[in-house]
Amino acid sequence: MATSNRSRARVALRTGVASILAAVTVAALSQTAAAADSLGSAAAAKGRYFGAAVAANHLGETAYASTLDREFNQVTPENEMKWDATESTRGSFTFSNADQIVGHALGKGMKVRGHTLVWHSQLPSWVSGLSATDLRSAMNNHITQVMEHYKGDIYAWDVVNEAFQDGGSGARRSSPFQDKLGNGFIEEAFRTARSVDPAAKLCYNDYNTDGVNAKSNAVYAMVKDFKARGVPIDCVGFQSHFNSASPVPSDYQANLQRFADLGVDVQITELDIEGSGTAQATNYGNVVKACLAVSRCTGITVWGVTDKYSWRSSGTPLLFDSNYAAKPAYSAALTALGGSGTPGGGDGSGATCSVSYTTSEAWNDGYNGKVTVTAGSSPITAWSTGVTVPAPQKVVTTWNGSPSWDSGGTVMTVKNAAYNGSLAPGASTSFGFTVQKNGNGAAPVLGACTAS
Ligand code: G3I
Repeated sequence: MATSNRSRARVALRTGVASILAAVTVAALSQTAAAADSLGSAAAAKGRYFGAAVAANHLGETAYASTLDREFNQVTPENEMKWDATESTRGSFTFSNADQIVGHALGKGMKVRGHTLVWHSQLPSWVSGLSATDLRSAMNNHITQVMEHYKGDIYAWDVVNEAFQDGGSGARRSSPFQDKLGNGFIEEAFRTARSVDPAAKLCYNDYNTDGVNAKSNAVYAMVKDFKARGVPIDCVGFQSHFNSASPVPSDYQANLQRFADLGVDVQITELDIEGSGTAQATNYGNVVKACLAVSRCTGITVWGVTDKYSWRSSGTPLLFDSNYAAKPAYSAALTALGGSGTPGGGDGSGATCSVSYTTSEAWNDGYNGKVTVTAGSSPITAWSTGVTVPAPQKVVTTWNGSPSWDSGGTVMTVKNAAYNGSLAPGASTSFGFTVQKNGNGAAPVLGACTAS
């Protein structure tokens, strides 16, 4: 289907700007590549990517964007490319939020996974009301329009998402597509996708298929059949949403390998593991090692940058906590990738810290804030963290820490005092400050904690 001139111009503009930015940033990146250590650079050294799901509405948050840009070399729009976001009204396409993410990613030289073209969820209600003939043409038109818009920009598309039922049946999930078009809708979607953007890798993506079980066996049979009949499929995505009810399977690596042996790439597409501390770290390390052990496992995407915005926020399933401090899980993932284990390369000592905030006292026009600094799994001798008070608040005094200020006077960086920089692994200290509210009662925001 022909793309309109306006749409083509928009794509060309976005791609053009992105490649100029990419050219500028490649030079900057290569200068720091040797010294800097990040999930993305460590994965790249192993021939893989390490990405995160991203939401357009958080890109304006400095700590979010800087953590994304420092650590990851691939992004997946978390919701912005789904059918309800791109074609909520039939034939009328909206790409602005997804364009924001794609523009940001390409500008930083990151790969983009497209998520997702055909899925029973986040599907506008008009789709389920169509007749079979009409639904077939709506599905093919949706795939065509969305892929045309991003042609050349997408590394891999989740063409069909979650088409199989949970449980032991191995059956297809009921959906408007399955119920009206039958099993053949998956094949048709892949054939249409290949005809639109032959350069993009085409993936089938699902959850609870991470180990060998009835559901993954059914997906395996489909992929084997597709390969045998020449249906265009290049990759299988394993979402890998883990928690105590659905732990990392012991045959995770073997399962990835058996799919790879069918002649497709495998990717870990939506990784998150609920938990904390050493247990969570061990699980993350094991998932990374499983991918590295399978030569066709081309990359890992975690389902969010920070616990703060995770779809399972209360389970703290990600690598950065809600203050953007790197968690033990981060160190484990980075170490498994062959990196040093400390954000931004650290000093090689393994020193990390995290920070948390409480208001210890409050009164009409002021409050006392308390920040607790906790060492990670290695001893530290110095720490530093940022504190931003919302204008027009003003910090009047600080104690147990040594502050310096940005030029605007609202962001302070607090380093340890002479007597509280050294902390044993897991040990904590705290510093405090008094703030004049000046009419604004909002709490301060902490930056990442760094340690040596
Ligand atoms: O944007 C609206 C906001 O305006 C409104 O005020 C708010 C009130 O509920 O909802 C907001 O939309 C939410 C959206 O996330 C953005 O935050 C939706 O309600 C919520 O349902 C939606 O959840 C997403 C979920 O897919 C929907 O199925 C999650 O963010 C997203 O992480 C999740 O991702 C899926 C993958 O696509 C497929 N695999 C499973 C994975 C986890 O469920």
